[in-house]
Amino acid sequence: RPEPIDASDAKPEAARKVKIGIYFATWWALNVVFNIYNKKVLNAFPYPWLTSTLSLACGSLMMLISWATRITPAPKTDFEFWKTLFPVAVAHTIGHVAATVSMSKVAVSFTHIIKSGEPAFSVLVSRFILGESFPAGVYLSLLPIIGGCALAAVTELNFNMTGFMGAMISNLAFVFRNIFSKKGMKGKSVSGMNYYACLSILSLVILTPFAIAVEGPQMWAAGWQNALSQIGPNFVWWVAAQSVFYHLYNQVSYMSLDEISPLTFSIGNTMKRISVIVSSIIIFHTPVRPVNALGAAIAILGTFLYSQAKQ
Ligand code: 3PG
Repeated sequence: RPEPIDASDAKPEAARKVKIGIYFATWWALNVVFNIYNKKVLNAFPYPWLTSTLSLACGSLMMLISWATRITPAPKTDFEFWKTLFPVAVAHTIGHVAATVSMSKVAVSFTHIIKSGEPAFSVLVSRFILGESFPAGVYLSLLPIIGGCALAAVTELNFNMTGFMGAMISNLAFVFRNIFSKKGMKGKSVSGMNYYACLSILSLVILTPFAIAVEGPQMWAAGWQNALSQIGPNFVWWVAAQSVFYHLYNQVSYMSLDEISPLTFSIGNTMKRISVIVSSIIIFHTPVRPVNALGAAIAILGTFLYSQAKQ
């Protein structure tokens, strides 16, 4: 790395690193809280299409209020902006609902182990759809990622096909979302925070009719009554917490995406999964066999090798 010319050059770079470090730590902490409340809600109320919709609705409402009260300046957008945002929002909606469906069927840790394979999807999409090629080391690093995820999947004590496929679909959808988002944010005056707010609003519009079609108010009303009678009024706070924290962690992650490359973003995201996997195993007393943990560790190690090879 080139030496800074004088101390004044080093300062902004050091300040930027501190800022990104704070974003990452906040993103991971908010994500752990989201994952815990999300799973608590799904255990009592297994309607992932509604909970996904509520988290987008909550974020949209929070941002509309902060624009109306001028806590955050509203973005200046035009039709072109929303048109470019549309494919990003489709990918975000699919990735979000698929991950939530997955977590309603399997342990949080299992969903996130499979989701740690996201860099492998990123390489496959870039290679076969965008026609990019990579050094041999990048392809080799896919072996531990894919092998580790496969080992963790086949030794998972509570394996469920919907849970597995949901996490896989989410991986694919989020790769597209990240590639399109970074392109959409480039050279635009809309900040990371406002970009994510617009993404939430558009995803909410896309998801709502599907949520009604797949689950619908009748199922929700019966399930809600049931959850309230099991858990008591705290259930409403859990739903509020999962929705608020979902928005906050994504907002912070987009604030970092504004500053870093999609590659650094996906490495940060995989490291985030380590804290989610460990904390959820402790909190939910998830049974884990040593060979299962080994699979997860190999997959995560593969992601680090991938980041080294890609750089
Ligand atoms: C979701 O519901 O969108 C997922 O839990 C989020 O997955 P992520 O950890 O990739 O943000």
